[in-house]
Amino acid sequence: MRILAIETSCDETAIALLEIMGPREAPDIKILGNSLFSQAHLHAEYGGVYPNLAKREHQKNLPPLLELTLNQASKLLGNPVSKLGKSVDYICVTQGPGLEPALWTGINFAEELGKKWQKPVIPVDHMEGHIWSVLYKEPTRIFNLQFSIYKKSKKLELPALALLVSGGHTELVMIKDFGKYEILGKTLDDAVGEAFDKVARMLGLTYPGGPKISKLAAQGRTLNTDSQGPTLVFPRPMINSGDLNFSYSGLKTAVLYKIKNEKILETTPIEEVAMAFEDAAIEVLISKTRRALEENIEDIKTVIVAGGVSANKYLKSEMQKLINTFDNIQLHFPIGSLSTDNAVMIALAAYINIESHSLGTIENIQAKGNLSF
Ligand code: KG4
Ligand code: ZN
Repeated sequence: MRILAIETSCDETAIALLEIMGPREAPDIKILGNSLFSQAHLHAEYGGVYPNLAKREHQKNLPPLLELTLNQASKLLGNPVSKLGKSVDYICVTQGPGLEPALWTGINFAEELGKKWQKPVIPVDHMEGHIWSVLYKEPTRIFNLQFSIYKKSKKLELPALALLVSGGHTELVMIKDFGKYEILGKTLDDAVGEAFDKVARMLGLTYPGGPKISKLAAQGRTLNTDSQGPTLVFPRPMINSGDLNFSYSGLKTAVLYKIKNEKILETTPIEEVAMAFEDAAIEVLISKTRRALEENIEDIKTVIVAGGVSANKYLKSEMQKLINTFDNIQLHFPIGSLSTDNAVMIALAAYINIESHSLGTIENIQAKGNLSF
């Protein structure tokens, strides 16, 4: 089945054309075209994403990205671009959660294209996209054009527990079956990616701050190997709350207090501050995942960690250590380029939905900023 996917929920404009076949737990995936424009550098001066700027940028960038994606596919398939529209089975687009002005640009663009090509347009939940991003396993960069052969994915067994960690979300989700999701716990205030971005700003680093903090923290860990252990320790909010919810605003405030009131940056290397923050942020994620596994151990065959923060190397290594303490649980992370927002994951989630519910045409898709499982 051929699916054209459009993603505009936040500050990445992305379009991908995929051919997917086979069983939902291990589909064969061919990326025919994939293009993405990140606006992150444009939002950097606002310290976060500015919705109206995001909307204008999506509007400007969708037409050239479609052209780019179709040109890639045309080269791979040896078919003229003019014939590609006909060969597509579904157009899918992110409906939410996200910034509504940004979501609407993608939806309007998808619906116009649907009319032009006379193809059904189906809405996709962005968080479902993050979950199913783990199905594509090819470790090489996906932006080059060598993907003319199908890549077989590793079998993903359900039920699965998903830890979704991004700029807007921190949640533990039980996936009992394809399309059946239950939120076990979530953040009561800030998301973990948001905390990374805000702390980065306090440290004078530009948006998005997650990758920059992560790099500094890794350097901090090497600096720290000869000392007696870290001198700076931040709180682990809600680590002993007895449930599966999270809170990251207190951690952010604790870092702010140390920087503003105690002026720690005058005496402590920035790498150590980044490390102390990352240690606290990740320890809570690991601890809550352990709890969720212990509470549902009979059921869970797979753990999925996805969303932008899943690119974090320290989270990856700590999660692997945790999973090693359980028998027979598989761990899935997305490949690097699919951890942050992209359109490949939206096509994958659409495939899962189409195969699960045999969807028909859906009229008048509405943007849903707060869409949730
Ligand atoms: O999933 P995503 O691209 O967008 C949302 O749906 O929110 O996630 C973006 C978030 C940002 O907060 C960014 O700072 C964070 O993911 N992020 C990271 C890393 N790479 C991206 N956080 C920690 N460590 C990283 N390596
Ligand atoms: Zn996302």
